Amino acid sequence: MKENPRKPYYGYRINKYIAAALAGGGVISIALAITFTILGYSTWVLIMCWALGAILLIFGVLWHLSLSFASDAEKIQQVQNSFDEQLRAVWDGKGTVLDIGTGLGRVAIEIGKQFPESEVIGVDTWTKFWRLWGMTKAGAERNAMMEKVSDRCTFQYGNALNLPFKDGEFQLVVSTFTFHEIHVPDRTALFKEVVRVLAPGGRFMICDAFRSGYKVRNVAELLKKIEQMGVEDMKYKTFREVGLNFGALTHMIARGAYLSGRKIKRS
Ligand SMILES: C[S@@+](CC[C@H](N)C(=O)[O-])C[C@H]1O[C@@H](n2cnc3c(N)ncnc32)[C@H](O)[C@@H]1O
Repeated sequence: MKENPRKPYYGYRINKYIAAALAGGGVISIALAITFTILGYSTWVLIMCWALGAILLIFGVLWHLSLSFASDAEKIQQVQNSFDEQLRAVWDGKGTVLDIGTGLGRVAIEIGKQFPESEVIGVDTWTKFWRLWGMTKAGAERNAMMEKVSDRCTFQYGNALNLPFKDGEFQLVVSTFTFHEIHVPDRTALFKEVVRVLAPGGRFMICDAFRSGYKVRNVAELLKKIEQMGVEDMKYKTFREVGLNFGALTHMIARGAYLSGRKIKRS
């Protein structure tokens, strides 16, 4: 296939449209409320229009404040730069890499670009829901071609809970903003799969919010649980600690962290 001259895009344009639709609906409803007040409509109609207008407007503004960073290419680049910095601190750049929940391939492709000795596979379920948010396999492949790494960066269907790989296949496993989207009684099952597909001595770095869904009381307990799977040299750094902060309303950025570790080599 020919390289595409357009720029790659890793964001969620739909967020902008949802915020605009909510706020627009709010403004229309308030405009109707004013018109109906002038025309002397019944109190119930006026209350409904004002209430609907206020609710839509508030949700539109909140949506914009909390999620607009995800459609802003500059902010996405800041998130990516921060990830690169953390990864460089724990990984030597050599070997086969797995990116779980790769979406449009942002992290997989960046690793391919930054580490010329790496081979990266991005897996995702790309379900109907996520396709609505722009996450598609074709999109990831297109981005890899535009970034000229499609020879070392490939994509395939795969579920994080049952990865389609043999034990010990990867030197690095990464995942960003995906684990919190997977609804299972205990998300530590995701870490079991990560450790299973890692080669002994291999590294993982997961970037997500870890405060719920892991059947633990706190982060220290979570780290202990993962350690018991045969992991050492664990590090947990919040986004705030590494200087990533887009405001309290941006849930994932406000509560997110990097969790990394190394699979123990058994002698
Ligand atoms: C918020 S997006 C993150 C995409 C990408 N990692 C990034 O940071 O730009 C979450 C991704 O997780 C994927 N996903 C959700 N459940 C999954 C599962 N069980 N296994 C693999 N991927 C999954 C979705 O399809 C979506 O692409």
